[in-house]
Amino acid sequence: MSLAGMLKSVHQLNKIRLRPVLLGNIGKAYFRRHVLRKPCLRICEFSITPECQSKCEFCYASKFHRPGDSLLTLEQIESIWRQAKELGAFSSCLLGGEPLLHPQFMDIIALLEPKKHIITFTTNAIDLTESIVKEVKRLGVFLINISVNSLDPEINNRLRGYEGHLDKVMQAIELCKRHNMDVFLPIATAKSYWEETIKIVNFADENGCGVTINLLCTMGRAESWRKDMFDAEFWEELRKLYMSHPNIRSDYDVNLSMRIGCPSGHEKIHIAPFGDVTGCSMQAASFGDARREPLADIVARMRSFRHYAKHAGHCLVAVDDEYIRNYMDFAMRYSSIPYRIEDNPQYAGDAGR
Ligand SMILES: C[S@@+](CC[C@H](N)C(=O)[O-])C[C@H]1O[C@@H](n2cnc3c(N)ncnc32)[C@H](O)[C@@H]1O
Ligand code: SF4
Repeated sequence: MSLAGMLKSVHQLNKIRLRPVLLGNIGKAYFRRHVLRKPCLRICEFSITPECQSKCEFCYASKFHRPGDSLLTLEQIESIWRQAKELGAFSSCLLGGEPLLHPQFMDIIALLEPKKHIITFTTNAIDLTESIVKEVKRLGVFLINISVNSLDPEINNRLRGYEGHLDKVMQAIELCKRHNMDVFLPIATAKSYWEETIKIVNFADENGCGVTINLLCTMGRAESWRKDMFDAEFWEELRKLYMSHPNIRSDYDVNLSMRIGCPSGHEKIHIAPFGDVTGCSMQAASFGDARREPLADIVARMRSFRHYAKHAGHCLVAVDDEYIRNYMDFAMRYSSIPYRIEDNPQYAGDAGR
Protein backbone atom coordinates (compact mmCIF):
# COMPACT_ATOMS: atom_id res chain seq x y z
CA MET A 1 0.00 0.00 0.00
CA SER A 2 -0.37 3.07 -0.70
CA LEU A 3 -0.60 6.61 0.29
CA ALA A 4 -4.37 6.12 0.03
CA GLY A 5 -4.22 3.49 2.76
CA MET A 6 -2.06 5.69 4.94
CA LEU A 7 -4.55 8.50 4.57
CA LYS A 8 -7.34 6.09 5.45
CA SER A 9 -5.39 5.12 8.57
CA VAL A 10 -5.28 8.67 9.81
CA HIS A 11 -8.63 9.42 8.27
CA GLN A 12 -10.60 12.35 9.61
CA LEU A 13 -7.48 14.43 9.14
CA ASN A 14 -9.55 17.57 9.55
CA LYS A 15 -10.31 16.62 13.15
CA ILE A 16 -6.88 15.20 13.91
CA ARG A 17 -5.29 18.41 12.66
CA LEU A 18 -6.98 20.28 15.46
CA ARG A 19 -5.33 18.01 18.03
CA PRO A 20 -1.59 18.57 18.19
CA VAL A 21 -0.96 15.87 20.85
CA LEU A 22 -2.74 13.23 18.77
CA LEU A 23 -0.91 14.32 15.64
CA GLY A 24 2.36 14.08 17.60
CA ASN A 25 1.50 10.56 18.79
CA ILE A 26 0.75 9.42 15.23
CA GLY A 27 3.94 11.07 13.97
CA LYS A 28 6.00 9.31 16.67
CA ALA A 29 4.52 5.95 15.63
CA TYR A 30 5.46 6.44 11.96
CA PHE A 31 8.93 7.66 13.02
CA ARG A 32 9.45 4.62 15.22
CA ARG A 33 8.29 2.23 12.49
CA HIS A 34 9.99 3.78 9.45
CA VAL A 35 12.99 5.76 10.70
CA LEU A 36 14.03 3.77 13.77
CA ARG A 37 12.74 0.57 12.06
CA LYS A 38 11.35 -0.70 15.33
CA PRO A 39 8.08 -2.60 15.71
CA CYS A 40 5.31 -0.30 16.88
CA LEU A 41 1.82 -0.98 18.18
CA ARG A 42 -0.92 1.08 16.58
CA ILE A 43 -4.11 -0.07 18.29
CA CYS A 44 -5.05 -1.81 21.54
CA GLU A 45 -8.72 -2.81 21.56
CA PHE A 46 -10.65 -3.76 24.68
CA SER A 47 -13.72 -6.02 24.82
CA ILE A 48 -14.89 -4.64 28.14
CA THR A 49 -17.83 -6.93 28.87
CA PRO A 50 -19.27 -10.18 27.51
CA GLU A 51 -22.84 -9.02 28.34
CA CYS A 52 -25.23 -8.19 25.50
CA GLN A 53 -28.94 -7.55 24.87
CA SER A 54 -28.81 -9.22 21.44
CA LYS A 55 -28.30 -12.77 20.32
CA CYS A 56 -26.72 -12.30 16.90
CA GLU A 57 -26.77 -15.64 15.09
CA PHE A 58 -23.09 -15.28 14.10
CA CYS A 59 -21.62 -13.63 17.21
CA TYR A 60 -17.97 -14.58 17.79
CA ALA A 61 -18.13 -13.11 21.32
CA SER A 62 -20.84 -15.43 22.61
CA LYS A 63 -18.17 -17.52 24.37
CA PHE A 64 -16.45 -14.56 26.03
CA HIS A 65 -18.29 -15.31 29.31
CA ARG A 66 -16.16 -16.84 32.06
CA PRO A 67 -18.24 -17.64 35.16
CA GLY A 68 -16.40 -16.93 38.42
CA ASP A 69 -13.86 -14.50 36.97
CA SER A 70 -14.02 -10.69 37.37
CA LEU A 71 -13.98 -8.12 34.62
CA LEU A 72 -10.91 -5.94 34.39
CA THR A 73 -11.01 -3.08 36.87
CA LEU A 74 -10.54 0.52 35.78
CA GLU A 75 -7.04 0.43 37.30
CA GLN A 76 -6.17 -2.68 35.28
CA ILE A 77 -7.48 -1.13 32.05
CA GLU A 78 -5.52 2.04 32.80
CA SER A 79 -2.33 0.05 33.41
CA ILE A 80 -2.73 -2.01 30.22
CA TRP A 81 -3.43 1.13 28.18
CA ARG A 82 -0.33 2.85 29.64
CA GLN A 83 1.80 -0.16 28.66
CA ALA A 84 0.22 -0.26 25.17
CA LYS A 85 1.07 3.43 24.71
CA GLU A 86 4.67 2.72 25.69
CA LEU A 87 4.68 0.19 22.84
CA GLY A 88 3.44 2.92 20.48
CA ALA A 89 -0.37 2.60 20.52
CA PHE A 90 -2.33 5.76 19.77
CA SER A 91 -5.71 4.19 19.08
CA SER A 92 -8.29 2.06 20.86
CA CYS A 93 -11.78 0.73 20.27
CA LEU A 94 -14.15 -0.56 22.93
CA LEU A 95 -16.09 -3.69 22.04
CA GLY A 96 -17.92 -6.45 23.88
CA GLY A 97 -20.45 -7.94 24.21
CA GLU A 98 -22.10 -4.59 24.12
CA PRO A 99 -19.70 -1.97 25.51
CA LEU A 100 -22.52 0.41 26.53
CA LEU A 101 -23.68 -2.21 29.05
CA HIS A 102 -20.49 -1.83 31.10
CA PRO A 103 -21.50 0.17 34.19
CA GLN A 104 -18.29 2.25 33.96
CA PHE A 105 -18.33 2.72 30.19
CA MET A 106 -17.88 6.49 30.40
CA ASP A 107 -15.04 6.22 32.94
CA ILE A 108 -13.24 3.84 30.58
CA ILE A 109 -13.67 6.23 27.66
CA ALA A 110 -12.31 9.05 29.84
CA LEU A 111 -9.21 7.15 30.98
CA LEU A 112 -8.29 6.41 27.34
CA GLU A 113 -8.00 10.22 26.85
CA PRO A 114 -9.80 10.61 23.52
CA LYS A 115 -8.42 14.11 22.95
CA LYS A 116 -4.90 12.67 22.72
CA HIS A 117 -5.69 9.38 20.94
CA ILE A 118 -8.13 7.96 18.39
CA ILE A 119 -10.78 6.38 20.62
CA THR A 120 -13.94 4.80 19.27
CA PHE A 121 -16.44 2.16 20.30
CA THR A 122 -18.52 -0.35 18.38
CA THR A 123 -22.12 -0.63 19.43
CA ASN A 124 -25.30 -2.42 18.42
CA ALA A 125 -27.00 0.99 18.92
CA ILE A 126 -29.73 -0.40 21.15
CA ASP A 127 -28.80 1.74 24.19
CA LEU A 128 -27.16 4.65 22.43
CA THR A 129 -28.82 7.81 23.79
CA GLU A 130 -28.38 11.49 23.06
CA SER A 131 -26.73 12.07 26.43
CA ILE A 132 -24.14 9.34 25.70
CA VAL A 133 -23.35 10.85 22.30
CA LYS A 134 -22.97 14.32 23.84
CA GLU A 135 -20.77 13.06 26.68
CA VAL A 136 -18.39 10.98 24.54
CA LYS A 137 -18.12 13.92 22.17
CA ARG A 138 -17.27 16.23 25.08
CA LEU A 139 -14.55 13.77 26.09
CA GLY A 140 -13.06 13.86 22.57
CA VAL A 141 -14.57 10.90 20.67
CA PHE A 142 -15.31 11.92 17.08
CA LEU A 143 -16.41 8.61 15.54
CA ILE A 144 -18.86 5.86 16.55
CA ASN A 145 -19.16 2.43 14.91
CA ILE A 146 -22.75 1.24 14.55
CA SER A 147 -23.13 -2.40 13.53
CA VAL A 148 -25.65 -3.45 10.91
CA ASN A 149 -26.08 -6.51 8.71
CA SER A 150 -28.83 -5.72 6.23
CA LEU A 151 -31.11 -2.86 5.18
CA ASP A 152 -33.99 -5.33 5.08
CA PRO A 153 -35.50 -5.22 8.58
CA GLU A 154 -36.53 -8.86 8.48
CA ILE A 155 -33.07 -10.15 7.53
CA ASN A 156 -31.21 -7.73 9.78
CA ASN A 157 -33.32 -8.25 12.88
CA ARG A 158 -33.24 -12.02 12.51
CA LEU A 159 -29.47 -12.06 12.09
CA ARG A 160 -29.01 -9.64 14.99
CA GLY A 161 -31.40 -11.56 17.23
CA TYR A 162 -33.19 -8.37 18.24
CA GLU A 163 -36.64 -7.18 17.18
CA GLY A 164 -36.51 -3.60 15.91
CA HIS A 165 -32.71 -3.51 15.61
CA LEU A 166 -32.63 -1.81 12.19
CA ASP A 167 -34.82 1.04 13.53
CA LYS A 168 -32.33 1.51 16.38
CA VAL A 169 -29.48 1.68 13.85
CA MET A 170 -31.23 4.32 11.72
CA GLN A 171 -32.09 6.40 14.80
CA ALA A 172 -28.50 6.13 16.03
CA ILE A 173 -27.07 7.26 12.67
CA GLU A 174 -29.42 10.24 12.70
CA LEU A 175 -28.49 11.08 16.30
CA CYS A 176 -24.76 10.96 15.56
CA LYS A 177 -25.12 13.12 12.48
CA ARG A 178 -27.12 15.68 14.47
CA HIS A 179 -24.18 15.98 16.84
CA ASN A 180 -21.60 16.11 14.05
CA MET A 181 -20.24 12.73 15.09
CA ASP A 182 -18.76 10.58 12.31
CA VAL A 183 -20.33 7.18 11.76
CA PHE A 184 -18.80 3.95 10.55
CA LEU A 185 -21.02 0.96 9.82
CA PRO A 186 -19.26 -2.34 10.65
CA ILE A 187 -20.78 -5.19 8.63
CA ALA A 188 -20.14 -8.79 9.64
CA THR A 189 -20.61 -10.54 6.33
CA ALA A 190 -20.72 -14.07 4.97
CA LYS A 191 -21.20 -15.55 1.48
CA SER A 192 -25.00 -15.67 1.83
CA TYR A 193 -25.16 -12.01 2.85
CA TRP A 194 -22.77 -10.45 0.37
CA GLU A 195 -25.61 -8.73 -1.56
CA GLU A 196 -26.84 -7.20 1.71
CA THR A 197 -23.32 -5.93 2.32
CA ILE A 198 -23.11 -4.18 -1.06
CA LYS A 199 -26.44 -2.47 -0.39
CA ILE A 200 -25.08 -1.15 2.93
CA VAL A 201 -21.91 0.08 1.23
CA ASN A 202 -24.06 2.05 -1.25
CA PHE A 203 -26.28 3.37 1.57
CA ALA A 204 -23.13 4.51 3.42
CA ASP A 205 -21.85 6.29 0.28
CA GLU A 206 -25.13 8.14 -0.06
CA ASN A 207 -25.34 9.05 3.62
CA GLY A 208 -21.79 10.12 4.37
CA CYS A 209 -20.90 7.12 6.54
CA GLY A 210 -17.79 4.95 6.53
CA VAL A 211 -17.95 1.17 6.34
CA THR A 212 -15.89 -1.58 7.94
CA ILE A 213 -16.31 -5.01 6.37
CA ASN A 214 -15.64 -7.88 8.79
CA LEU A 215 -15.50 -11.16 6.91
CA LEU A 216 -17.11 -13.92 8.93
CA CYS A 217 -14.89 -15.67 11.46
CA THR A 218 -16.10 -19.02 12.72
CA MET A 219 -15.95 -18.48 16.44
CA GLY A 220 -18.62 -18.51 19.14
CA ARG A 221 -22.12 -18.83 17.64
CA ALA A 222 -20.60 -18.91 14.13
CA GLU A 223 -18.51 -22.01 14.85
CA SER A 224 -20.55 -24.15 12.48
CA TRP A 225 -20.74 -21.56 9.66
CA ARG A 226 -17.65 -22.85 7.86
CA LYS A 227 -19.47 -23.31 4.51
CA ASP A 228 -20.46 -19.65 4.54
CA MET A 229 -16.90 -18.37 4.89
CA PHE A 230 -15.06 -16.60 2.11
CA ASP A 231 -11.85 -17.95 0.62
CA ALA A 232 -8.47 -16.56 -0.42
CA GLU A 233 -9.77 -15.93 -3.98
CA PHE A 234 -12.55 -13.77 -2.65
CA TRP A 235 -9.95 -11.70 -0.80
CA GLU A 236 -8.81 -10.27 -4.16
CA GLU A 237 -12.37 -9.32 -5.06
CA LEU A 238 -12.74 -7.61 -1.70
CA ARG A 239 -9.59 -5.59 -2.33
CA LYS A 240 -11.10 -4.26 -5.57
CA LEU A 241 -14.17 -3.13 -3.65
CA TYR A 242 -11.94 -1.35 -1.13
CA MET A 243 -10.07 0.44 -3.87
CA SER A 244 -13.27 1.67 -5.51
CA HIS A 245 -14.83 2.92 -2.26
CA PRO A 246 -12.62 5.26 -0.24
CA ASN A 247 -15.10 5.16 2.63
CA ILE A 248 -14.47 1.43 3.29
CA ARG A 249 -11.77 0.79 5.87
CA SER A 250 -10.65 -2.26 7.81
CA ASP A 251 -7.85 -2.65 10.24
CA TYR A 252 -5.80 -4.71 7.82
CA ASP A 253 -5.42 -1.85 5.32
CA VAL A 254 -4.39 0.94 7.67
CA ASN A 255 -1.08 -0.51 8.86
CA LEU A 256 1.82 1.71 9.89
CA SER A 257 3.97 -0.69 7.86
CA MET A 258 2.02 0.56 4.80
CA ARG A 259 1.40 -3.08 3.88
CA ILE A 260 -2.02 -4.66 3.63
CA GLY A 261 -2.43 -7.65 5.89
CA CYS A 262 -3.03 -9.07 9.33
CA PRO A 263 -1.78 -6.63 12.02
CA SER A 264 -2.12 -9.17 14.87
CA GLY A 265 0.59 -8.85 17.49
CA HIS A 266 2.68 -6.42 15.47
CA GLU A 267 0.42 -3.39 15.21
CA LYS A 268 -2.72 -4.58 16.89
CA ILE A 269 -3.66 -6.33 20.10
CA HIS A 270 -6.98 -7.02 21.75
CA ILE A 271 -7.70 -7.40 25.44
CA ALA A 272 -10.57 -9.79 26.16
CA PRO A 273 -12.93 -9.09 29.10
CA PHE A 274 -10.80 -11.04 31.63
CA GLY A 275 -7.35 -9.82 30.58
CA ASP A 276 -6.40 -12.30 27.83
CA VAL A 277 -4.30 -10.76 25.08
CA THR A 278 -5.16 -11.82 21.53
CA GLY A 279 -4.13 -10.51 18.11
CA CYS A 280 -7.58 -9.08 17.44
CA SER A 281 -11.07 -9.54 18.84
CA MET A 282 -11.73 -12.39 16.36
CA GLN A 283 -8.66 -14.40 17.31
CA ALA A 284 -9.48 -17.38 19.53
CA ALA A 285 -6.05 -17.91 21.11
CA SER A 286 -4.58 -15.90 23.98
CA PHE A 287 -0.84 -15.27 24.34
CA GLY A 288 -1.04 -14.31 28.00
CA ASP A 289 -2.97 -12.62 30.79
CA ALA A 290 -2.28 -8.89 31.00
CA ARG A 291 -3.31 -8.91 34.68
CA ARG A 292 -0.36 -11.17 35.50
CA GLU A 293 2.42 -10.44 33.02
CA PRO A 294 3.89 -7.27 31.48
CA LEU A 295 2.25 -6.46 28.15
CA ALA A 296 5.65 -6.10 26.45
CA ASP A 297 6.52 -9.74 27.24
CA ILE A 298 3.19 -10.98 25.87
CA VAL A 299 3.55 -8.89 22.72
CA ALA A 300 7.11 -10.18 22.19
CA ARG A 301 5.73 -13.73 22.35
CA MET A 302 3.06 -12.83 19.77
CA ARG A 303 5.64 -11.36 17.42
CA SER A 304 7.64 -14.57 17.37
CA PHE A 305 4.61 -16.73 16.55
CA ARG A 306 5.12 -18.04 13.00
CA HIS A 307 1.72 -16.96 11.64
CA TYR A 308 2.06 -13.41 12.97
CA ALA A 309 5.77 -13.11 12.17
CA LYS A 310 5.28 -13.88 8.48
CA HIS A 311 2.99 -10.82 8.00
CA ALA A 312 0.11 -12.57 6.24
CA GLY A 313 -1.19 -10.39 3.42
CA HIS A 314 -4.79 -11.29 4.22
CA CYS A 315 -7.09 -11.76 7.22
CA LEU A 316 -5.90 -14.90 9.04
CA VAL A 317 -9.18 -15.74 10.78
CA ALA A 318 -11.36 -15.12 7.73
CA VAL A 319 -9.56 -16.67 4.75
CA ASP A 320 -6.40 -18.54 5.82
CA ASP A 321 -7.38 -22.18 5.67
CA GLU A 322 -4.35 -23.57 7.51
CA TYR A 323 -4.63 -21.03 10.32
CA ILE A 324 -8.38 -21.56 10.68
CA ARG A 325 -7.96 -25.34 10.83
CA ASN A 326 -5.15 -25.24 13.38
CA TYR A 327 -6.06 -22.31 15.62
CA MET A 328 -9.74 -21.37 15.17
CA ASP A 329 -11.31 -24.84 14.96
CA PHE A 330 -9.39 -25.78 18.12
CA ALA A 331 -11.56 -23.29 20.04
CA MET A 332 -14.67 -25.43 19.47
CA ARG A 333 -13.76 -27.69 22.42
CA TYR A 334 -13.97 -24.80 24.88
CA SER A 335 -17.09 -23.26 26.39
CA SER A 336 -15.16 -20.10 27.23
CA ILE A 337 -12.63 -18.40 24.95
CA PRO A 338 -9.97 -17.18 24.32
CA TYR A 339 -8.08 -20.40 25.10
CA ARG A 340 -4.38 -20.39 26.11
CA ILE A 341 -2.28 -20.83 22.98
CA GLU A 342 0.15 -23.16 24.75
CA ASP A 343 -2.73 -25.62 25.22
CA ASN A 344 -2.88 -26.07 21.45
CA PRO A 345 -0.39 -28.84 20.45
CA GLN A 346 0.11 -27.21 17.04
CA TYR A 347 1.71 -24.22 18.80
CA ALA A 348 4.84 -26.16 19.74
CA GLY A 349 5.88 -26.12 16.08
CA ASP A 350 4.73 -22.58 15.33
CA ALA A 351 5.96 -20.79 18.45
CA GLY A 352 9.30 -19.36 17.27
CA ARG A 353 10.23 -17.62 14.06
C1 LIG B 1 -18.75 -8.66 18.89
S1 LIG B 1 -19.41 -7.13 18.37
C2 LIG B 1 -19.24 -6.16 19.85
C3 LIG B 1 -19.80 -4.77 19.74
C4 LIG B 1 -21.32 -4.63 19.66
N1 LIG B 1 -22.02 -5.53 20.49
C5 LIG B 1 -21.80 -4.72 18.23
O1 LIG B 1 -22.41 -5.71 17.85
O2 LIG B 1 -21.53 -3.77 17.50
C6 LIG B 1 -18.15 -6.39 17.32
C7 LIG B 1 -18.39 -6.51 15.83
O3 LIG B 1 -18.11 -7.84 15.42
C8 LIG B 1 -19.08 -8.26 14.47
N2 LIG B 1 -19.12 -9.71 14.52
C9 LIG B 1 -19.73 -10.49 15.44
N3 LIG B 1 -19.53 -11.80 15.17
C10 LIG B 1 -18.78 -11.86 14.06
C11 LIG B 1 -18.23 -12.93 13.31
N4 LIG B 1 -18.46 -14.20 13.63
N5 LIG B 1 -17.47 -12.63 12.22
C12 LIG B 1 -17.24 -11.34 11.86
N6 LIG B 1 -17.74 -10.27 12.54
C13 LIG B 1 -18.50 -10.53 13.63
C14 LIG B 1 -20.33 -7.55 14.95
O4 LIG B 1 -21.31 -7.45 13.93
C15 LIG B 1 -19.79 -6.20 15.37
O5 LIG B 1 -19.74 -5.31 14.28
S1 SF4 C 1 -22.36 -9.07 17.65
FE1 SF4 C 1 -22.53 -7.51 19.24
S2 SF4 C 1 -24.73 -7.18 19.46
FE2 SF4 C 1 -24.50 -9.11 18.43
S3 SF4 C 1 -24.60 -10.63 20.08
FE3 SF4 C 1 -22.43 -10.17 19.62
S4 SF4 C 1 -21.87 -8.64 21.05
FE4 SF4 C 1 -24.11 -8.69 20.99
